[in-house]
Amino acid sequence: MKICVLNCSPKNDLSITLQTVFYLQKWFQEKLGEDEFDIIPAFSGIVTDNIKEAIQKADLIIMSGAVFHFDVHSSMSELLDILCDNYYDILKAKPITFLSTSGMLGDTMAHNRFEMWARRNDLMYINSLSLESSEILSPTGREELFCWFKYTKAITEYYKNKKMPQAKSHGRVVLLDTCEKENETILSEIRSAKQRFEASGFETKIITLREKNIRHCTGCQCCFSNRTCVFNDDWKKTFEELYLDTDMIVYFGGLHYATLGNCYKTFLERHACLGRSGIEDEVIKSYFFILDEKSDREDISAFKINCETFDGLNCSYLSDICEIGNNEKMLELYDKMTIAYNSDIMPQNGFLKNGIRTGFARVAATVKNRCPGDYSYFKNLGCYDTIQASPQVQWLDNAEDAQKDREARLIPYKMTLLHLAELPMITERRKYKSISVIERQKAAARGTDIYNH
Ligand SMILES: Cc1cc2nc3c(=O)[nH]c(=O)nc-3n(C[C@H](O)[C@H](O)[C@H](O)COP(=O)(O)O)c2cc1C
Repeated sequence: MKICVLNCSPKNDLSITLQTVFYLQKWFQEKLGEDEFDIIPAFSGIVTDNIKEAIQKADLIIMSGAVFHFDVHSSMSELLDILCDNYYDILKAKPITFLSTSGMLGDTMAHNRFEMWARRNDLMYINSLSLESSEILSPTGREELFCWFKYTKAITEYYKNKKMPQAKSHGRVVLLDTCEKENETILSEIRSAKQRFEASGFETKIITLREKNIRHCTGCQCCFSNRTCVFNDDWKKTFEELYLDTDMIVYFGGLHYATLGNCYKTFLERHACLGRSGIEDEVIKSYFFILDEKSDREDISAFKINCETFDGLNCSYLSDICEIGNNEKMLELYDKMTIAYNSDIMPQNGFLKNGIRTGFARVAATVKNRCPGDYSYFKNLGCYDTIQASPQVQWLDNAEDAQKDREARLIPYKMTLLHLAELPMITERRKYKSISVIERQKAAARGTDIYNH
């Protein structure tokens, strides 16, 4: 496979993103014994002959760059426009994705811009990856990068031959009907999703939320202290059915002002009794929806971001969305979920991972005395660590010192990444298979070590 990385970092050789890309290149060529992996400087906002040639011969294009002011760097946005305006013919049949590093202070906009650019221009978009600047120095960061890369390569192959993928091991998919009223279109789509996943080798389960007796959360806060809801209705059973042993969840429903409907919201609110610790499960999610007469195209773009927000705590990766009706697109998305499953891509929590964590960590800090479990959960994750300013810090007030500083920042990357010989270890998935999700959640919210639970 021929890969071309268009590196859009204006720092070029002093770029941290570039160090991450070098590491990928090393894997690709030395460890995976593959073909070409060209890294082309592409930060001037113009399409050079080099860029044009590299795109023409590539099977996969990775745009790499940093997040600047919440968005992609201006030279990259220029390049995106020019590519589509003037070079669409050479770009349109190429799978394309984006790899960023950032300070994790709002990387969502950059990735959404990229996704929107790719989708609006009808390109072969592959889910992008956002890494915190120093994540590549940690084993989890490298694992994340590796799984994403595996996924990216597999999707590139999939785009080429469109062959239905087989699940690499036994997995379970839940098809969740979130509609308030029975809807024939959705029922028939659920049936065809069931067929497709079963043909790929998954066990499937259909859950119809409206048939469950689930009461609205009244905000009584009794669960804050004992982690148990005062209502003894279908919530607990439904929750376990949804998450226990589950690898992927496919949501079906109508769009209600760019989010899912009330049935699902009612169900979600009752998660409060598990604390704010998020579901420590690795579940891949996708959302399929129909529009009502009030919705418009803007609802669709907003929906993806909203999914990650309202469902983001339920640790998941690859929330993808698709409007019901386009059968080919739907089947493609089911297959892409299978490829994600095969790539072990699950540890990622989506682009908002730190944002959501930080938000909930703040809430837990303010109610520290009432919810000590939540507080210690986030403390263990390092959410309350702050770095003290050193009195020895020298201000960088000239270009020469700033250059030295940037060079010094690269030393750990060069030292660490250059000498790493092996591919990263991949975490064993579904570690807690068959253990009550609710018990695990309660343990996490109490601050108990779930590994020993
Ligand atoms: C001018 C400037 C603006 C930045 N804005 C953001 C931002 O909005 N959000 C963020 O998470 N990181 C931001 N960063 C941090 C960079 O994205 C991060 O350090 C990245 O790893 C740098 O990659 P590079 O060395 O390849 O340029 C900014 C950095 C600079 C220099």
